[in-house]
Amino acid sequence: MREIVLKIGGSVITDKTKPFTLRKHVLNRIASEIAKALSEENIKLVLVHGGGSFGHFVASRYKDKFTPRAFIEIHEAMERLNKTITSCLLKHGIDAVPINTQLTFILKNKEPYKVFLDPIINALKRNLVPILYGDIVFDATKKFSILSGDTIAPYIASKLNFNNLFYAINVNGVYKRYPPKSDKDLIEVLNQNMLSNILEHSRVKARGIDVTGGMVNKLLEIVKWVKIKKMKIMMFNALKPGYVYRALTYKNIPKKTIVKV
Ligand SMILES: Nc1ncnc2c1ncn2[C@@H]1O[C@H](COP(=O)(O)OP(=O)(O)OP(=O)(O)O)[C@@H](O)[C@H]1O
Ligand SMILES: [Mg+2]
Repeated sequence: MREIVLKIGGSVITDKTKPFTLRKHVLNRIASEIAKALSEENIKLVLVHGGGSFGHFVASRYKDKFTPRAFIEIHEAMERLNKTITSCLLKHGIDAVPINTQLTFILKNKEPYKVFLDPIINALKRNLVPILYGDIVFDATKKFSILSGDTIAPYIASKLNFNNLFYAINVNGVYKRYPPKSDKDLIEVLNQNMLSNILEHSRVKARGIDVTGGMVNKLLEIVKWVKIKKMKIMMFNALKPGYVYRALTYKNIPKKTIVKV
């Protein structure tokens, strides 16, 4: 049985340089690729999506001072994005079921503290595709904190003991330096040594607005949560047609980064 957590980057399905801008054709194409993969293979799939130009944009207005109003507005933007994505998945015949982040995760000092995984486990047992998303959630010490899709994805993959964790992003993978000089800077297999190097050399965290730390945070969260040695972790460019389908059906992707940390 294939078990895959797929994080669909907000960088892919939205334009993060423009507030509330969906890349509708990209979303549609990705939904059709997921539907095709699910119709061909038996896959236990969990989807996670990020904030893109919805959550990140609203959150950036509050500059880390999360008031009750911030809690409501950031969540509202994320619900809107999630609803659009879910509707698109349903239209393509995928039995996607949104999992409310605020009811699943309670944080303590920004870290997962109480997590209610039962709805996700039940959904998977019934052949549904749970879809989670980054959001602002209750925090026992800080009142409210942002929980990134980049924390949710490795956290869920580890807790459910999945064997694959894939990141659909808007670049070919992780580069030795960013911005890269050419694709020669693309790292094919990223190990622990390279990671420290990247953390020093990535001056730009993300293109457009990103309140959760872009690529650097993605890697740090993987290191924090993934302790399962057999888990395959891959980042690839989902702006390239067919790559999501290829990833889900274990077909080769020419340019990508495999993360082994
Ligand atoms: N070393 C690096 N290699 C590759 N990309 C990098 C690197 N350093 C920074 N980046 C930036 O990280 C971006 C991807 O992270 P970003 O958080 O914007 O995407 P995302 O997680 O898909 O979006 P979201 O947070 O909305 O889900 C790339 O578009 C790139 O601009
Ligand atoms: Mg991000």
